Amino acid sequence: TDTHTILGLESSCDDTAAAVVRQTSDQRAQILSSVVFGQTDLHRAFGGVVPEIAARAHAEKLDVCVRDALQAANVSLKDLDAIAVTAGPGLIGGVMSGVMCAKGMSAATGLPLVGVNHLAGHALTPRLTDGVNFPYLMLLVSGGHCQYLIARGPEDFTRLGGTIDDAPGEAFDKTARLLGLPQPGGPSVQAEADAGDPKRYRFPRPLLDRPDCNLSFSGLKTALLRMRDQIVAEKGGLTRQDRADLCAGFQAAIVDTLTEKTRRALRLYMAENPPFPTVAVAGGVAANTAIRSGLETVCAEFGATFVAPPLALCTDNAAMIAYAGLERFKAGARDGMDLTPRPRWPL
Ligand code: KG4
Ligand code: ZN
Repeated sequence: TDTHTILGLESSCDDTAAAVVRQTSDQRAQILSSVVFGQTDLHRAFGGVVPEIAARAHAEKLDVCVRDALQAANVSLKDLDAIAVTAGPGLIGGVMSGVMCAKGMSAATGLPLVGVNHLAGHALTPRLTDGVNFPYLMLLVSGGHCQYLIARGPEDFTRLGGTIDDAPGEAFDKTARLLGLPQPGGPSVQAEADAGDPKRYRFPRPLLDRPDCNLSFSGLKTALLRMRDQIVAEKGGLTRQDRADLCAGFQAAIVDTLTEKTRRALRLYMAENPPFPTVAVAGGVAANTAIRSGLETVCAEFGATFVAPPLALCTDNAAMIAYAGLERFKAGARDGMDLTPRPRWPL
């Protein structure tokens, strides 16, 4: 038949996930189930993801995750057409856990194996959620990634630029840590910023003087540290308002940078693609309302359609891996037992 049902596995960072996605003929693919076990609690005490702890937790949770995903989808192994798995990039121990699990299932069932690039999973999500057609411009903004991509096909991406140091989510998380706000930093910094004056503290806008699409965020944390220490030296501590103003100034710098670089990415994109483009985002930072409205403003300037998948599909999940696997599978891609986990794997 013309129906494809794919199981996807994801374990490249701190979420263990399994999902089932099905596509009948050329209709929109459907998510039959999407199960995510977060590991935030396991890593909290360490102030970041500990690779060894993550790998062990993935190895322990993957089978439960798969069982739950199949059950929730009301699907059994014999209903599947393939098993898709994140083969990188990511923390190698976690990626290995996922690839081993998928290989074991493939060997036991005879189902084809399809290795998926995690970044391709994020980048193809707008097709799953909104049926977006190629080509489109993609901004990936998460705790680990920040890049502009032109998506031309399931395995055809062009990178226009990206961060040369920290990812924006990482910058939010570090800011929260420096100001004693809870993790993950994005939501807590955003909440503070809502009550702050973005003009009181002036943060740098790195690389805005360069015409390209590269970004840099590590200088923001240095600037923040300096401002915080100066306030403390002058007044002995931070007031609630100081903290809110610092957050607002920091967030404004990120919004301005992402907005202006998106403008440049769109200009580059439009120079060689049809008019009325689509701009899509993915990654946890896409949850930020100020960043979103900045991006919406740029899109309006260019007559571009702005697509932001639901948050649960913007952050790490296995539905995007199953879907990217589905696209590769339909294009004839098959991997064997020699599928190799890759810590680094640029698109
Ligand atoms: O995509 P994601 O779930 O995980 C990976 O990085 O792989 O993104 C998590 C990141 C964290 O750094 C978190 O602080 C950030 O997304 N984040 C936000 C917001 N919500 C989550 N950053 C800014 N504003 C938010 N509202
Ligand atoms: Zn991710």
